[in-house]
Amino acid sequence: MKVQKAGVIGLGNIGPGHYRVYKELGLDVIGYDVEEKPGYNMAQKFDELSECDIVSICVPTNLHLEYGIRIGDLGVKNILMEKPYAKTVDECKILTEYFKKENIRATVGMIERYNPALNKVKELTRDEKILSMIFKRVGTKPGRIKDPISLDIGVHDFDLVKMISGNKLKDIRVLRKDDEEAMYYGKAGDANVIIELSWKAKDTKGRSLNLFTDKNVYYADYVNFRDPKILVRGKFDYTWENGDFVEFQNLSEDLKEIEFDKTEPLKNEISDIIQRIEEGEPFNISLEDATDAVRFATTY
Ligand SMILES: NC(=O)c1ccc[n+]([C@@H]2O[C@H](COP(=O)([O-])OP(=O)(O)OC[C@H]3O[C@@H](n4cnc5c(N)ncnc54)[C@H](O)[C@@H]3O)[C@@H](O)[C@H]2O)c1
Repeated sequence: MKVQKAGVIGLGNIGPGHYRVYKELGLDVIGYDVEEKPGYNMAQKFDELSECDIVSICVPTNLHLEYGIRIGDLGVKNILMEKPYAKTVDECKILTEYFKKENIRATVGMIERYNPALNKVKELTRDEKILSMIFKRVGTKPGRIKDPISLDIGVHDFDLVKMISGNKLKDIRVLRKDDEEAMYYGKAGDANVIIELSWKAKDTKGRSLNLFTDKNVYYADYVNFRDPKILVRGKFDYTWENGDFVEFQNLSEDLKEIEFDKTEPLKNEISDIIQRIEEGEPFNISLEDATDAVRFATTY
């Protein structure tokens, strides 16, 4: 099938991004919101969304369950739910059962899976043994967000552990957890994993992965999605004798910046979803993976 018409429910912070990308990809787009949204082509009645080939659900998380079912009941057959999939694992399961029963194809906007910096790190470490991954996601709490930090932003990192290492997070220990700060330790295969989340960094913001393998040390900083960076330190050693460095070995692979295509994650995500609908391929992000991320965020 050709995807020609898209709907976006909820034009708050992230919804306008979906609306813009669908437009840039040449689709007809219609929005729906309980508030006036000047400048957008808005549906006057919810039923008008029934003609959409795909609908993005970008309302607050406590409404994902309700809108997933309402839009499915209208007959829409492809759904992109913003992350987190839903508020609880039980709600995720209700939605998954419902989509299956109604033959609806749905996926969840775990946008970091489409982050070019993280995909590059995955590619660079493919043939190396990952020994440690430290994810940091820090900043100020967005006023409009009601979800605790692990559900709002931790879901990305829980999911990234498996995306990058191929191993699911396990043996999780919670080192600290409240609504605004959390720190987890776990393992992915043999690798140590630390996830640090904080909304207490008032004047700055960070999203980074510090990873080392048996061969290299990587640092990916992707807080600026327009210009993410990756630094890598390769073979490096020195000997120390009589109070001085006497020999630096092979500095040719010393700290260097990696070049890669800095494409927009949201555009990558939506184009991939449309292509998979048109080609009848399974989505990159399964509902099981999206449910797992909610499970990690709400269980531990
Ligand atoms: N993928 C990401 O990186 C990312 C980024 C931001 C937000 N999100 C997710 O997207 C969702 C929305 O977040 P946001 O920051 O855009 O929220 P927001 O509060 O800025 O926007 C929500 C919009 O939904 C509308 N809305 C509220 N109740 C409604 C209802 N009953 N019916 C129709 N519209 C309604 C509001 O008027 C508002 O325009 C959340 O689940 C959030 O976690 C994901």
